Amino acid sequence: MADRRTSRVLVTGGAGFIGSHLVDLLLDGGHHVVVVDDLSTGRLSNLEPARARSGDLLEFVHSDLGRWIDGEGADHRFDCIFHLAAAVGVKLVVQDPIGTIETNVHQTSAVLEFANAGSTPLLVASTSEVYGKGVNDVFSEDDDLLLGPTTRSRWSYACSKAIDEYLALAHHEQRGLPVSIVRFFNTVGPRQVGDYGMVVPRFVARALRGDPIEVYGDGEQSRCFCDVRDAVRALPGILDSRACLGRVVNLGSDSPISMNGLAQLVKDVLESDSEIVHVPYEQAYSEGFEDLRSRVPDLSRIRSAIDFSPVHPLHRTISDLARELQGASSRG
Ligand SMILES: NC(=O)c1ccc[n+]([C@@H]2O[C@H](COP(=O)([O-])OP(=O)(O)OC[C@H]3O[C@@H](n4cnc5c(N)ncnc54)[C@H](O)[C@@H]3O)[C@@H](O)[C@H]2O)c1
Repeated sequence: MADRRTSRVLVTGGAGFIGSHLVDLLLDGGHHVVVVDDLSTGRLSNLEPARARSGDLLEFVHSDLGRWIDGEGADHRFDCIFHLAAAVGVKLVVQDPIGTIETNVHQTSAVLEFANAGSTPLLVASTSEVYGKGVNDVFSEDDDLLLGPTTRSRWSYACSKAIDEYLALAHHEQRGLPVSIVRFFNTVGPRQVGDYGMVVPRFVARALRGDPIEVYGDGEQSRCFCDVRDAVRALPGILDSRACLGRVVNLGSDSPISMNGLAQLVKDVLESDSEIVHVPYEQAYSEGFEDLRSRVPDLSRIRSAIDFSPVHPLHRTISDLARELQGASSRG
C-alpha cells in the first residue's frame, strides 16, 4: 500500500473499535475507503471524525458483509482489504455462541472468496484467544494451541478464529491469495466500549462514576495492553510485508499488567476514590468459566518484518479513554 497513495481499500467492520481507527489512518494517507459494517457492535459515531475530515473519500455501507458480497458488492474491486468484521468480546461470545461461530466463520469464508476473485491482498484479523489456555510464558505464532472442551462456549470464539486462520492459510497455499493474518492481543483505547466485557473501558467507566471497580477472580491474572492507535499503524506495513505473506503475526504489547495493577493504575490516573472489589468468575460469566493467568506475545516476527514502535503508554490510553467517556456523558 505504501506506494499506492490513492488505493481503494475495503475495511470490513470499519465502524468498530479497531476498524474505525484504521479508517482514520487510511484516510489520512489519502486512500479511498469503503466500510461495510452491520453495526451489530460497531457505531456510526466512530466514523464521524473520519467523515468530517475526509468527505467523499469515505463510503459507508450498512450491511451484513456476506449479504453485501453476494449482492451489490459482488462487482466491486479493491486494491486491498482489511477484514475486521467479527463477533467480538468474551461476554457476547458466552451469551451468543451460535452467532459468534456463524458470523466469524461465514463472513471470513465469504471475504476470502471475494478477495480471491480479484487476487486482492487481504489482511485477516485474528486473536490471541486462539492460543487458548497454553501455559507458556510467551506465545509465539507457531506454538501449539490449547483450547478447552467444546462444552465451554467461551472457546467457540477462539475456535472460530482458528478456523478463519486455517481458511486464510489454505487460500494462500492452494490459490496463491496474498493474505496475512494478525493475532491481535488486548487492544485498548478511545471508542472501545465496556458493554461486551472489555476490561479497560469497564474499569475506566466505573472509576469515573466512583463506583466499585469489579476485578474478576483474584485479580492476579495479567494481560498486555496495546493502544489501538499503535496497533492500526502496524497494519498497512504487515499487509505490504513479504515476510508476513501467508503467515500469522502477533500484534500487541509485551508488557504485562495484572488486573489488580490495572484497577489501581486506573484509580491513580483518574484520581478516583472507587473501591476495588473482587467478583468470582461464576458470578461475572457462567459456571465453569475458564480464564488465562497471563498472555504475553512474542513480537520477534513482527519486529523483524516492519518497524513496530508503539508510542502510547497505558496511562495515556486510560486518560484519553476517560476524556472521551466524559465528553460523551456531558453531551447527554
Ligand atoms: N479489541 C481487541 O482487543 C481484539 C483482540 C483480538 C482480536 N480482535 C479482532 O479485531 C477485530 C476488530 O475487533 P474490535 O475490537 O474492533 O471489535 P468491534 O466489535 O468494535 O468491531 C467488529 C465490527 O464488525 C462489525 N460486524 C460484526 N459482524 C458483522 C457482519 N456480519 N457484517 C458486517 N459487519 C459486522 C461490528 O458491527 C463491528 O463494527 C475482530 O476481528 C476481532 O476479533 C480484537
